[in-house]
Amino acid sequence: MLNTPRTILLTGGTSGIGLALLKQLHSQGHKLLVVARNQNRLLHLQTEYERVTTYKCDLASRLQIESLATDVSEKHTDLSIIINNAGIQYTPTLLDENFNFDSIEHETTVNFLSPVWLSALLLPTLLQNNMSSSIVNISSGLIFAPKTNSAIYCATKAAIHSFSQSLRNQLAQTNILSQEVILPLVDTAMTKGRGSNKLSADEAARQILRGIKKEAPEIYVGKAKLLPGLMRLSPSLVKKIMRKF
Ligand SMILES: NC(=O)c1ccc[n+]([C@@H]2O[C@H](COP(=O)([O-])OP(=O)(O)OC[C@H]3O[C@@H](n4cnc5c(N)ncnc54)[C@H](OP(=O)(O)O)[C@@H]3O)[C@@H](O)[C@H]2O)c1
Repeated sequence: MLNTPRTILLTGGTSGIGLALLKQLHSQGHKLLVVARNQNRLLHLQTEYERVTTYKCDLASRLQIESLATDVSEKHTDLSIIINNAGIQYTPTLLDENFNFDSIEHETTVNFLSPVWLSALLLPTLLQNNMSSSIVNISSGLIFAPKTNSAIYCATKAAIHSFSQSLRNQLAQTNILSQEVILPLVDTAMTKGRGSNKLSADEAARQILRGIKKEAPEIYVGKAKLLPGLMRLSPSLVKKIMRKF
């Protein structure tokens, strides 16, 4: 995977880990279809990078996702990699005064439903082009144990972890991989003002691309590599650590 030029759909390529992935993938000669909402940032990418096509699409909208998938499947029949990277994280707890009831649906749709919808809608395109292909979902060390706030975020990442495994089983007889990236805390807009010793987005992107290239089913990045071993040794310790994140 990634050894020859590919057409890659990348959600959330305008910021943080997505932007770092875009830069590295573009420098390696790949063609990118970048999906996000911010029109100015998308325009900038389109002028800065010659092999970038942008799609302004709100991944909280099923209608917009359906129209994105129709356009991509008609115009980019050589699509062979989908990186479901876009995500949001709200931090209040359900007890907080500023907890927004509508945020439950919004966060669930962007983080969980949109990758599932895109996978389902674009699978026929991946199947018909007969290339080795991959659907890459971005999850988090929080799949092992949730932190105290951001309950919906943690649940969406646990859901995408489960979905990635089921999809892997369902695609076993095809040439499409289901790969999952398990990230530690990374220094991006999402984690601004919290956490320390964060991994840089560039280094996270480097490790993600190495894992995609190796066709690893689960790609553990940075400190997240410690989690499976720690879970075997002491699940209660992992729960304790994560609760405070
Ligand atoms: N940073 C971390 O520590 C960390 C840890 C574990 C997992 N992750 C995961 O890594 C992924 C990338 O996170 P990041 O830290 O790089 O975040 P980020 O810097 O905040 O970037 C988020 C990206 O998602 C896009 N996006 C957000 N809502 C969208 C929507 N409704 N429709 C379309 N695009 C939308 C944003 O573009 P627009 O605003 O233009 O739409 C932006 O490009 C996420 O899935 C996140 O959950 C991050």
